Amino acid sequence: MTDDRRGRFGRLLVTGGAGFIGSCFVRDTLAGNPGVRITVLDKLTYAGNRANLATCEGDPGQAARLRFVAGDIADPAVVGPLVAETDAVVNFAAESHVDRSILEPVDFLRTDVLGVHVLLEACRAEQLRAQQGQRESAPRMLQVSTDEVYGSVPTGESLESDRLDPRSPYSAAKAAGELLVRSYFVTYGLDVVVTRGSNTYGPYHHPEKLIPLFITNAIDDQQLPMYGDGMQRRDWIYVSDHAGAIGYVLEHGTAGEIYNVPGANERANREVIEQLLERLGKPWSLVRSVADRPGHDRRYAMDGSKLAALGWTMKVPFEQGLATTVDWYRANEAWWRPIKSGEWNDYYQRQYAARLAGSRDAG
Ligand code: NAD
Ligand code: TYD
Repeated sequence: MTDDRRGRFGRLLVTGGAGFIGSCFVRDTLAGNPGVRITVLDKLTYAGNRANLATCEGDPGQAARLRFVAGDIADPAVVGPLVAETDAVVNFAAESHVDRSILEPVDFLRTDVLGVHVLLEACRAEQLRAQQGQRESAPRMLQVSTDEVYGSVPTGESLESDRLDPRSPYSAAKAAGELLVRSYFVTYGLDVVVTRGSNTYGPYHHPEKLIPLFITNAIDDQQLPMYGDGMQRRDWIYVSDHAGAIGYVLEHGTAGEIYNVPGANERANREVIEQLLERLGKPWSLVRSVADRPGHDRRYAMDGSKLAALGWTMKVPFEQGLATTVDWYRANEAWWRPIKSGEWNDYYQRQYAARLAGSRDAG
């Protein structure tokens, strides 16, 4: 949804809409589409944050079109009635952090696989109601997936038709989720689309991920734990571009199809770290080379021709997006400092204490 019209879908159920990308989708959709009403369903896990929707809830025009429901996508009793009153489901809800999936995979299976199945079943029930004339049409479901389902890509760029080769519990769960989505298209003719987005960055990003972790640690002159040699490569997309592409595919994507959403900004982790330190005016000596992530995917890269052919173009260049992001974290300590407390300390200890104790100069 890129314009001022009501769009194809007037009532959206946005699951995981209090997270990083989901909340950007909600903010941008409500601001840009006065005819759209959104229900956010979010379990508010450690990664979900009502504060991510504060600007919408503080704007009377937007607040009137936003409803927040605290609940689990894996709970059919919660999901069923919400899907019954929606035109489309956009599923951002997921356990999303690779490192946490390595420490404790089970929640990833529950949300990223079983939760997706509950959403699909609810859509299927509504498809039946549509066939029986009890509603105008079946809901569309968009599943937000990831480039990580392709696994590590040494050379070239992944195409939507490439074999999936997920290598972490996170990416394996995401692959299972989107395969279920596809199976509901083939088997039941459900109206579904899938996007596979690349590494996303921007404001409101939980500080466990590379860019916000390193920005917020550097602001506090704390060490920056770079895994291994830091030559792993990721393709970075700014959050509003990723959310915008999802809205565009929701409106224009063909049922049953998968669309890569690349950032066209491939960078080694070292380059990203150098750039954010430069913007912050902090020294490289903060960076420590620590024990690598087990099974660490060396590189992700996707071909974006299919999405481009649909008519979508990105807007934010990496340098601009990174500068905006660094400045946002500098200006919004009240947002991230509370997140880096409580449960965070246990996680940080578990993930980084031994790594930092055994760390080396990062060269
Ligand atoms: P996030 O971790 O910031 O947000 C996830 C949200 O889902 C949180 O608000 C959380 O409370 C909610 N949630 C978790 N389990 C839930 C459940 N069982 N029921 C309801 N809500 C639940 O994640 P994100 O970075 O915003 O990612 C959103 C989606 O995009 C995910 O599906 C992720 O796999 C995908 N994705 C992310 C990236 C990235 O770089 N961040 C890249 C490609 C794809
Ligand atoms: P991350 O933000 O976790 O995204 P993903 O693993 O889904 O790509 O990590 C991005 C890259 O940064 C990845 O190569 C792992 C690396 N990384 C570190 O070097 N140190 C860290 O503390 C984290 C969180 C990530």
